[in-house]
Amino acid sequence: MRLDIVTLFPAVCEGPLGASIIGRARERELVDLRLVDLRQYTHDRHRTVDEPPYGGGAGMVLKPEPLFEAMQDVAPPGAWRVLLTPQGVPFRQACARRLAALRHLVLVCGHYEGVDERARQALFDEELSIGDYVLTNGALAAAVVADAVIRLLPGVLGCEESSEDESFGRNGWLEYPQYTRPAEMQGMRVPEVLLSGDHEAIRAWRRQRSLARTAARRPGLIQGWDGDQ
Ligand SMILES: C[S@@+](CC[C@H](N)C(=O)[O-])C[C@H]1O[C@@H](n2cnc3c(N)ncnc32)[C@H](O)[C@@H]1O
Repeated sequence: MRLDIVTLFPAVCEGPLGASIIGRARERELVDLRLVDLRQYTHDRHRTVDEPPYGGGAGMVLKPEPLFEAMQDVAPPGAWRVLLTPQGVPFRQACARRLAALRHLVLVCGHYEGVDERARQALFDEELSIGDYVLTNGALAAAVVADAVIRLLPGVLGCEESSEDESFGRNGWLEYPQYTRPAEMQGMRVPEVLLSGDHEAIRAWRRQRSLARTAARRPGLIQGWDGDQ
C-alpha cells in the first residue's frame, strides 16, 4: 500500500510511525509511507497556508490553493482521499480494515480552525474523526489512522491471526484478559485454566471472559449497534 499523509507537521507523524512494528513495516517496504509537507505547495515569500475566515471570527483557516495543489500532486485518480476532522464519521476497526484493502490512501490533516469548505467539498472521498474531542492539529489523528491501517497489512504483524483475535476482531467483541509470568504476583494468581494446557477449556474460558467484559463495558458491540461502519 502507498500511504501519503499531507500535513504542516511531518515530524509529529514521524515519531509514532517510525518506531516498533510500524517502523519495521516501513523498513521491510510493506508500506510506502510518505509524509508530505503542505507548506511546499505555497509560493509566496512567507509560505502562507492560512488566512482569516470570511465573515470574521476567531482563528485562521487553511487556504484552499495549497491543498488543491498538494492533492493534484499526491492523489492521482484512484487514490482514496480522507480528511481528518472532528466533524467526520467516527473511525473504527471496520473502517481500518476497509482502508487497509486500498492500494493508495491519502490522509490530509487540518490545522487552526480547519480547512476551507470548498477544498473539503472538492477534494475528499471521506471525512474521519478519531473521537469526540478537538485536537490542535490533524497530524496525531492521521498517525492514529495510519497505525491502525498499517498493522492490518499482510505481513506486518508477526502472526496473521493476531489482528482477528483481539478487540474488535473476528466477533467484534473486546479481548479476554491476558496474563504472563509469573504465575503469582503479590498474591494474585493467574487463572488455573490458563496453566492447564487444556486448549479447549482455555478457548471456552477466553470466549466467556471476552463476552462478559464486552457486555459490561461495551454492550452495544454485542447488540451490533456501535461496532461497524
Ligand atoms: C482545532 S481543529 C479544528 C476544529 C474545527 N474548528 C471544528 O470545530 O470542527 C484543527 C484540526 O485538527 C484536526 N482534528 C482535531 N480534532 C480531531 C478529531 N477528533 N479527529 C480528527 N481530526 C481532528 C482536524 O484536521 C482539524 O482540521
